[in-house]
Amino acid sequence: MLRKTILAASAAILGTFSAATAEDLAGKEEFMVACAVCHGESAKGDGPFASMMNVEVPGLTGLAAANDGVFPFLKAFEIVDGRTGVRAHGGPMPIWGNRFKSDVESLGPYSSEIITRGRIAVLVDYLQSIQE
Ligand code: HEC
Repeated sequence: MLRKTILAASAAILGTFSAATAEDLAGKEEFMVACAVCHGESAKGDGPFASMMNVEVPGLTGLAAANDGVFPFLKAFEIVDGRTGVRAHGGPMPIWGNRFKSDVESLGPYSSEIITRGRIAVLVDYLQSIQE
């Protein structure tokens, strides 16, 4: 009985871990494809494109440290999305909310928006995981 309970608990914990890992991997992959060219593979603001821009590309590993140790998830989300909030007026960084837009509408009226936000959330989750 006890053994069964322990096994079930371990399975639940392992399940959580592997799900988180898969999510981080997806976020990392997305980061390497969409962000590393400017922000750098290690997110230090030193991607190959950074030197060609006329504005400084910030590093992204110190967002939590700059916010009293708390990762500013919503702010980062809105910055990446770019369609609402602080960057709605535009800026040098691309508006990812439009690029990540999916054309899947078959899963319901909001499916495209849900997929778009899901991709951004996974990406911002990855940013949170690399804070120093
Ligand atoms: C074309 C180069 C470029 C690309 C590609 C790019 N960024 Fe940026 N990013 C910038 C620049 C320049 C800034 C600072 C000015 C601004 O906010 O527009 C910035 C700012 C940010 C900030 C705010 C940092 C702070 O200190 O407040 C975050 C978060 C961010 N980028 C995340 C991302 C993510 C995630 C991606 C990939 C989806 C990405 N960026 C892709 C150039 C880029």
